[in-house]
Order: sequence, then C-alpha cells, then structure tokens
Amino acid sequence: PLIWLELQDCAGCTEAISRSQSPSLVNLVLDKIAVDYQETLMAAAGAQAEEAKRASMAKHRGQYVLVVEGSPAVGEDGAYCTIGGRSNVDLLREAADGALAVIATGNCAAFGGLPGARPNPTGACGVSEIVKDRPVVNIPGCPAIPEVTTGTIAYVLVTGGLPKTDSLLRPVTFYGHTIHDHCLRRPFYEAGRFAESFDAKGAREGWCLYKLGCKGPTTYNACSSLKWMQGLSFPVQSGHPCLGCSEPRFWDGGGFYEGQSAPLLSPTAAAAGIA
Ligand code: SF4
Ligand code: F3S
Repeated sequence: PLIWLELQDCAGCTEAISRSQSPSLVNLVLDKIAVDYQETLMAAAGAQAEEAKRASMAKHRGQYVLVVEGSPAVGEDGAYCTIGGRSNVDLLREAADGALAVIATGNCAAFGGLPGARPNPTGACGVSEIVKDRPVVNIPGCPAIPEVTTGTIAYVLVTGGLPKTDSLLRPVTFYGHTIHDHCLRRPFYEAGRFAESFDAKGAREGWCLYKLGCKGPTTYNACSSLKWMQGLSFPVQSGHPCLGCSEPRFWDGGGFYEGQSAPLLSPTAAAAGIA
C-alpha cells in the first residue's frame, strides 16, 4: 500500500508522475501497489478519503510506503497548511510513524522548495527535518523526474530496503552525476564556446549556456542521462539553462539567469587559452 500526502505543493510532482514511462504509474497501480490515499488521483473526497487513509494505515502498519509531496509548514503550529481540520505536521508525523519508508518527492518535500524561499512565511522545511525516526529518501526536482520517483518506489517494493543515498538522502543511482557530466552541450563548454544571449546564434547552435546562468556543473540529477518525456529532451537540450532545481535553496541560492562573467574553464580549455 502507498499513502501519498500533499502538503504545501502545486501538485506538479503528481502531474509529472502520471507521465512516468517505466515503471509507469498505471503499471505500478494496477499490478504492484494499492494507492490508498492520493488527494489528486483518488475518487474519494472529504471525510470518506480521510477514513480510507486511517483504515489503511492501521491495517498495514509498518508495511506501507509514505510518499510526501510539498513542504511541511511548521510556522504557527502548522496552521498554514491543514487537511481535514488537522495540522500538516501532525498528519505527517502520524503517517510517518507507521510507514516502512518515507519518500519525499520534489524539491518542496525534500528541502522546502518554493514555499521555503525568502522570507519563508510559513516555516516551510524538508520532510527529513520533521521525520527523524523513519528512513527518508529525497527525490528533489521541480518537479521530480517521474521515473526517479516511480523507480524508487519500485526499488523499495522489490528489495524491501532503501537505495543507497548521498549526504542529502538522494539515491546515488539517479543523483550520482551532475547535469554537466552528461550534457550534450558539454563539447562547447570544453571548447570555450558560450552563448551570450538567448537569441544569439550560438544558443541556437547548441553552445554552452553557462554564461546564461546554467547551474549544471553544480546540480546533481538525472536529467541529462534519463531525460524527460520518455527520453525526448530536458531543459538544457531545449535551450534553457539548468536552474539547479534538485539542490537545496535553489530559489534563493544564486539567482536565475545570472551567468558567471568568468566561466569555470575545463583544464583542456584553459590550457588552450580559450576565454
Ligand atoms: Fe551543459 Fe550547462 Fe554544463 Fe554548459 S554549463 S555544458 S549547458 S550543463
Ligand atoms: Fe531541474 Fe536542471 Fe533538470 S533545472 S529539471 S535539474 S536540467
């Protein structure tokens, strides 16, 4: 069984997961798991939905996977986000208490995300700051790559354990490399060819977007290898710099579209005197 809580969210991670290719959400739901509570997808609503959640958590205590989308809001004793008249923090603690594992999907659930941006009026934070006595896996992104979320759910189902994670609790299988490591614009970076504006000829010809604010060199995620929409594309391939959406504080942490005046030249490019 799977319980999926939505706290301070836009439902973008739910929207994304509905397009997961392999494993697909349909395969997971019809063949492998029972989604007993998911506000956006379930037919039930109101008291009926809350009762279904309570019954499932009691029946499957210690066995269900808890997925959390959206950030907990600890300000004013949790009053900024209530569901069924109860504080989000209470609901999170209650659901985590009986869970086999907790998967925090999206930057909001992992690190606070957009609700946590300055001045963070609601006291948004990551799930792992609230849940201390259950294993937590972070799947950050804005939204999270759907196959990374479904793949992690499938991993827990198949092995009964949790994947190996990095220091930010992200599975290393998916977050072991930077966007930059596998970027198809990387040869231009190495050659010192940087697009100077979005309408420059270089941008159209696939030059590196570092000077347009690309955070690919410091962002760990699977976008440049797994890609999106069944491997069709990802932001940098589509002409947009990586904004670092799988890293903590990405809304506040350095400015979107603010390129560095002096790109971090690779040793090859530096040795060749490319500027
Ligand atoms: Fe790709 Fe960005 Fe690295 Fe340039 S800086 S190679 S666009 S990831
Ligand atoms: Fe996010 Fe960068 Fe991927 S902005 S979607 S981690 S390319």
